[in-house]
Amino acid sequence: MAQGPVAVTGSASGLGAALRVRLEADGREVIGVDLRDQEITADLSTPDGRAAAVDAVRDACGGSLGGAVACAGLGPQVSPQRLIAAVNYYGATSFLDGVGPLIGRGGAAVAVASNSATMTPQDDEGLVDLLLEGDEEAALAVADRLHGAFVYGMSKLALSRAVRLRVGEWGARGVRLNAIAPGPIETPLLQGGLDDPELGPLIEALPVPLDRRASADEIAAVAQFLLSDEAAYVHGSIVFCDGGSDALARPETF
Ligand code: NAI
Repeated sequence: MAQGPVAVTGSASGLGAALRVRLEADGREVIGVDLRDQEITADLSTPDGRAAAVDAVRDACGGSLGGAVACAGLGPQVSPQRLIAAVNYYGATSFLDGVGPLIGRGGAAVAVASNSATMTPQDDEGLVDLLLEGDEEAALAVADRLHGAFVYGMSKLALSRAVRLRVGEWGARGVRLNAIAPGPIETPLLQGGLDDPELGPLIEALPVPLDRRASADEIAAVAQFLLSDEAAYVHGSIVFCDGGSDALARPETF
C-alpha cells in the first residue's frame, strides 16, 4: 500500500461519507472533496472547479497520495441533464487523471460507476463516444436533449470504459484503478430518484435478486477492499455490487 492520505470526492454524504468513516477507522487519513463540509470545497461540474480540486488535493497531501476515490455524483432526476454528465463523467475522470500521478507505487484508485451502465437501454445518440472523446461542450449539449435516466446510465458506462482504457498507463506506474458498479444504495441520491414521480416507480420495479437495497457501508466495504493490499492483483475490474441485478438481466454476457 502506498503511504499517504486517500482523496475522496463526494465525501459529505452517502457512500463517500460511509467510506470516509471506514478508512479513518482503519487509520487512513482522508482528504474529502465536496460542495460543502469537507477539507476541500470544490464544484466538480466545471473545468475550473475540477482544476481547483486537484490543486487543493496536491497542496493538502504535499504531493503524495495513498489512493483516490471518485465518488461524487448526481442522480438521474437532476436537471439540466448536462449536470449529470458533467459531474458523473467529467468530474470523475478529470479528478482521477489529475490526482492519479500523485498516488505512489502500490496505491490504488476507485471510480464509483453504477449497474445503470448495463441496465439502461443502449443508445443511438452516441453519447458514450462523445463523452469518451472529451469534447465536453458537444457531449453536454447532447445530454441536455436526453432523458436524465439515460444520461445517468451512459455517463456511468463511459466512466466504466474510461477505467478500462487507463489500465496500461496506470499499471505502468504501479497504481491500480478499478470501478464499482453498485445497485440501489440507501442514500439521499437514491431517495431523490424514488421521490421523482416518473423515476420512482421505475426504480422500485428494478428486480434485485437479494430483494433489498444496500446500506452505504456495505458498498463502502467493497471500495475499501479495492483500495487495500488485499486487492493487490485487481486492476481494471468493474466490480458489480448490486444484489445480483446485472447478472439477472444479462446472465450470458460472460
Ligand atoms: P449522495 O447524494 O448521498 O452523495 C453524493 C455527494 O456528491 C454529495 O455529498 C454531493 O454534494 C456530491 N456532489 C454532487 N455534485 C457535486 C459537485 N458538482 N462537486 C462536488 N461534489 C458534488 O449520493 P450517493 O448515493 O452516496 O452517491 C455516491 C456515488 O454512488 C455517485 O457517483 C452515484 O452515482 C453512485 N451510485 C449511487 C447509487 C445509489 O443507489 N445511491 C447506485 C449506484 C451508484
